[in-house]
Amino acid sequence: MQALPLLPYLAQQAQAKLPVDIWHYLQSDAGCGAQLQSNEAGWQIKKLIPRPLTALHHPNTQCTMFAEQWAHPIMLAPVAYQRLFHADGEIGTAVACNAQQGQMMVSSLASQSVNEIVKQAQQPLWFQLYWQGDRARTEVLLRKALAAGVSAIVFTVDAPVKQALIDLPKGISAVNLAQPLAMQALQAGQSQVFDGWMTQAPTWEDVAWLRQQVTIPLLIKGLMHEDDARRVVALGCDGIVVSNHGGRVLDGTPTVAAVLPEMVAAVAGQCKILVDSGIRSGQDVFKALAMGADAVCIGRPYVWGLAAEGAMGVAKVIRTLRDELEMTMALTGVSSLAEMRQVKLYV
Ligand code: FNR
Repeated sequence: MQALPLLPYLAQQAQAKLPVDIWHYLQSDAGCGAQLQSNEAGWQIKKLIPRPLTALHHPNTQCTMFAEQWAHPIMLAPVAYQRLFHADGEIGTAVACNAQQGQMMVSSLASQSVNEIVKQAQQPLWFQLYWQGDRARTEVLLRKALAAGVSAIVFTVDAPVKQALIDLPKGISAVNLAQPLAMQALQAGQSQVFDGWMTQAPTWEDVAWLRQQVTIPLLIKGLMHEDDARRVVALGCDGIVVSNHGGRVLDGTPTVAAVLPEMVAAVAGQCKILVDSGIRSGQDVFKALAMGADAVCIGRPYVWGLAAEGAMGVAKVIRTLRDELEMTMALTGVSSLAEMRQVKLYV
């Protein structure tokens, strides 16, 4: 018997099924959990006022994202190594996504071939690109994704310094990547961060280069500063994923809910705004859209579904958030995503 609401129930099931280190890898943030909690609270402190008696006119959750018509604005964020969580892996996620008329970003660190994931999804998916240390190596990965038929590239820029968060079990690896770029040996007194990792990190010049390589929509994931948002627009990119990586990189950032209005104002409609980090319900989705986002992404919640019940669990998570979004629209008298943008939030 399931006494809890679906998401906490799936989280509980996932925790019970996963080895402790894998559960920790999934749930952890860059500190002791405070960033994760504040990400979630950031959406929850915004409040909605019910608007009963409002007649809904052709109510729907449809939206247009570049050339794609989406049935709803709930997307799956890139999550690495999904075979850690269930044998179905990324393919299970992709199949569930298709069944629920959704869209997902396949991680650079996927544990199954991007070609196979897109094939099994039976729809073009988006591909999340991590910088591979230099342009030549990054281009190899990019070309592999483009050849698989992906329909957008999402360049994640907020995690240039990678710390190994987990020892991968035998048989699970980032199968789409070439061998990692060898790090130059450090001299005595050199910094591992400045003289090591950061020598391989991308810069704005690389974003400009990438823009020239990519003819499909290009989004930049992991920005929270309004000046960076303006720069993305100036470089001709098509979208931003406002995100603090689910709190997993820089500990102690503001919540995404806190910076979203500034980011929306900065781009002034010149590119799409997607948002993630801490979204846990259809009501959170509603609030993000009311604040000006064009779509939202979820990370951990769908992985709870994957770990607990495979592809079926992922499908249930998407469907539940969509149902909750529709219910929130009904209770607030909102018929469309365009109308949602007019809704005032309270604290
Ligand atoms: C991530 N995230 C992530 N982001 C990315 O761009 N590439 C990646 O490979 C990964 N991998 C990854 C693994 C795990 C286990 C987690 C939890 C997250 C970040 C992810 O795309 C997204 O930004 C956050 O998960 C959103 O926050 P919530 O919904 O998990 O709170």
